[in-house]
Amino acid sequence: MIELSVALEDRSYPVLVGAGARHRLGEVLPSGVRRVAVVTQSSIPVEVDPGVDHRVFTMPDGESGKDLSTVEDLCRQWAQWGLTRGDCVVGVGGGVVTDTAGFAAAVYHRGIPVVHVATTLLGQIDAAIGGKTGVNLPEGKNLVGSFWQPSAVLCDTEVLSTLPAREYRNGLGEMAKYAFLGVADLADLSLDEAVAACVACKAEVVASDEREGGRRAILNYGHTLGHALETAGGYDLRHGEAVAIGLIYAAELAHNLGRISATRVQEHRSVVAGYDLPMVIPPGSDPEQLIALFNRDKKAIDGVTFVLDGLNGVEPVRITDTDLLRQSMEGLL
Ligand code: GLY
Repeated sequence: MIELSVALEDRSYPVLVGAGARHRLGEVLPSGVRRVAVVTQSSIPVEVDPGVDHRVFTMPDGESGKDLSTVEDLCRQWAQWGLTRGDCVVGVGGGVVTDTAGFAAAVYHRGIPVVHVATTLLGQIDAAIGGKTGVNLPEGKNLVGSFWQPSAVLCDTEVLSTLPAREYRNGLGEMAKYAFLGVADLADLSLDEAVAACVACKAEVVASDEREGGRRAILNYGHTLGHALETAGGYDLRHGEAVAIGLIYAAELAHNLGRISATRVQEHRSVVAGYDLPMVIPPGSDPEQLIALFNRDKKAIDGVTFVLDGLNGVEPVRITDTDLLRQSMEGLL
């Protein structure tokens, strides 16, 4: 078992990575917990035993269950059961579960402890780490949420073998991102080591900028085009696949800005290809629509903040030249 920590002073917490990590749940519960509310989805074939009185609360499958009505349902059921502030919520699942259970824990009784048992690759290397919780509104994803750090995260790599291939690839898109955030030789590591290396990278970034005042934004590398593709909709793309395309685009853009060499762009292509992830924008896409989506929340005159590679590593960069955005897309169409 590889043991890591997210260092946030008195809110620091352990992250355990390895086969069978879910069996360590009893050890990582906060002391004094009498009851545990386990939140999961019926499609997740992972059982946990917290070793104290517990009940399982099943939320709807799919992203559509990540909403305020699920939060209300969970909180009402917990209140009917008598869950107190001294008890604990345990989210068992991927990002949909840990985001929703984490947010419900953040607001129930003004906040009760939560432990995440991440069951997807994407959850283990991203969603369950760092305390971002939230749910979707019809108006947009993750529009209601809070920063609520878990008390512990268990990344059980044994359960990853039960993931459908497409869900696993979804996580590989985020893993590819870490190759450009300073995680060296990812492809040469065992699965446990690779998950742990990504967790360690994210933990360090979160510890330096918990509430995304600045540096934490680098975790969104590849996400600007990725999110635009997801928002435009109509493509058969999972989040990690959209991020993979976004990584190539970010490299092309950085190259056109003179920030990185052609060799570095090729490194992006090699890493993404190595994970067998998509590298081009799906046929039929409208570049103008995608560029408009980059500007979605801002007036075009303000430009768009991209996270781009460069001599100082990956960092946020403001871009106002729309022609450059368009030109950088050409190699991906
Ligand atoms: N998923 C990006 C972050 O946690 O900041």
